Amino acid sequence: MGLGSDMYRQQILDHYKNPRNYGELEDADIEHVGDNPMCGDTIKMFIQLAEDETIERVSFIGDGCAISQASASMLSGELRGESLEAVREMDRDDIVDMLGVELSPMRIKCAVLPEKVAQDAIAIYRGEADIEETTTE
Ligand code: FES
Repeated sequence: MGLGSDMYRQQILDHYKNPRNYGELEDADIEHVGDNPMCGDTIKMFIQLAEDETIERVSFIGDGCAISQASASMLSGELRGESLEAVREMDRDDIVDMLGVELSPMRIKCAVLPEKVAQDAIAIYRGEADIEETTTE
């Protein structure tokens, strides 16, 4: 394992211990919850939109492993200023790049949970989906 990977591991731990944008967003335009049924860990994302429908603020609450919570924390910063379309086009490679570490298939499910919650939240907001709760399956 190289130094670069160590640095990313530190960053993940830091986001886990000191999550950014943690808490409920009052006045959220979009909010949605999801879980990883393998472990029961949950993430709820809150998204506030600007007038042009770009993302103005993102927050989350959750309970879970370091990867899922760090991924939510990092994603909450990454999504600010993005268009809803850009968020919907994100895929797991974007999340792996963001986290900067190789992950096993089990851990990938942890990592992509916040992204899936955000994407489903946007689909619901646009009336394109009727999803009560997102899962990683
Ligand atoms: Fe539950 Fe990671 S172990 S989301």
